[in-house]
Amino acid sequence: MNIIVTIFLVLLPVFLLLVRRRGSSKRVPPGSLGFPIIGQSLGMLRAMRANTAEKWLEERVQKYGPVSKLSLFGKPTVFIYGQAANKRVRDALESFLKPDRLKLYVGKMEQEVRNHLETYWKDNRIIKVLPLMKTLTFNIICSLLFGLEDGAQRDQMVHYFQAMIEGFWSIPINLPFTRFNRSLEASKDIQKMLKQLISEKLHEFNNSASSHQDLITCLLGILGENNQEVLSENEIIHNVMLIMAAGYDTSSVLITFIVRVLAKNPNVHEAVLKGKTSLNFIPTRVALPFGFLNKIVENAEQEEIAHSKSFGESLTWEDLGKMKYTWRVAMETMRTFPPIFGGFRQTVKDIQYGGYVIPKGWQIFRIMAKTHMDSNIFQEPEKFDPSRFENTTSLPPYNFVPFGRGSRICPGYEFAKIETLVTIHYLVTHFTWKLCCTDDFFSRDPMPVPTQGLPIEIVPRKPL
Ligand code: HEM
Repeated sequence: MNIIVTIFLVLLPVFLLLVRRRGSSKRVPPGSLGFPIIGQSLGMLRAMRANTAEKWLEERVQKYGPVSKLSLFGKPTVFIYGQAANKRVRDALESFLKPDRLKLYVGKMEQEVRNHLETYWKDNRIIKVLPLMKTLTFNIICSLLFGLEDGAQRDQMVHYFQAMIEGFWSIPINLPFTRFNRSLEASKDIQKMLKQLISEKLHEFNNSASSHQDLITCLLGILGENNQEVLSENEIIHNVMLIMAAGYDTSSVLITFIVRVLAKNPNVHEAVLKGKTSLNFIPTRVALPFGFLNKIVENAEQEEIAHSKSFGESLTWEDLGKMKYTWRVAMETMRTFPPIFGGFRQTVKDIQYGGYVIPKGWQIFRIMAKTHMDSNIFQEPEKFDPSRFENTTSLPPYNFVPFGRGSRICPGYEFAKIETLVTIHYLVTHFTWKLCCTDDFFSRDPMPVPTQGLPIEIVPRKPL
């Protein structure tokens, strides 16, 4: 009897799934939901770690078309490939991260970068770039957005945070020793620490600190119609964790891959440092023996900016505006190695898409970066060529979207731009480096991870 009950219980989900599939196959997108809970998660994670996710997805597109269903991380999901694909908090975040305010933070960010290089780069010969950049970007966010300064508390937080992030894209099986379980435990520890931090901030806030001192204080200061705080402690904690997660892994990956690109492309490195030179034809009626071809420096970049500063003088917003070529290098790096490969959204009601119905409660898996390597959009897509971004208006819309698009576009765009430019400025003007691992491999976890976290050999160029 027990065996019959066990078999019944095991087969029940499979039966329900089959019934559901049969009943809905005319309406929902094509594709298979695979085994309960696991679905296609293992296949996709394996492909990401082997850096063959594009191929894996291409095979889906070939088999089912641009819209198909699958099951990821325990949830029915619709995968969409193509171009389309608590307001108050978002407003607070946007107002906190807008350029006018960020301008004031350039100096503070620069100080974090200098401290980082003094601590981890200056006296070392071989370093691993990715883990260090993760530490740097986490520290920048903690200090600038949450007023959490250097010290043991911040070090503890970064440790928990890394464990939490590692479980984000894992099979949701909560058993001891699984990645998922470790991630949940780490998340609880972070929430405890944030609770403590929020109560400290609340105390400062009630003692008349400005509501714009840091983001937590700003969130505490959001008041409703009857002048009551509108966000609960839990809502603030979850938003802080969202921003930490969104801002930490992304910029660190971008900076790491720029370091890799500069090591592999000495001409690009030279142009970032000294400005881009080009051969220009100067039309003239007078025949000049050597003068008809001129080498023009289009943009003086990092070295000239460094030379314009007296000892100890900070970088300014205006200096960042001059780093045009460096930012093009960053854009081309995001085209070839996009930090965010795709994203999930959950439907709150049945929606129509591409002739199918996506049922309420399903998640949608969008791949934003697939167009980056499409030769119809980017000629010679394998070639690293920052000049593609000299005139961004010539790019067809919705095809280069490393920061997303539409109402949920990344609010951290300017923040990421400043931290990237400031860090690259310091790296190229103070160090030279070469790669210790020259293979081209990187896996996705889900962010791109170069072999061994990108070990490099560094030589100081000038003192910090
Ligand atoms: C190179 C760096 C970065 C990249 C490539 C990046 C990319 C993205 C992408 C693709 C999204 C999803 C947009 C969508 O769903 O349409 C996103 C969302 C988000 N990003 Fe970033 N991001 C970066 C840095 C940052 C930083 C530094 C912060 C914070 C300081 C940040 C905060 C956020 C937040 C809060 C969201 C969620 C927005 C929402 O759901 O309304 N990001 N980011």
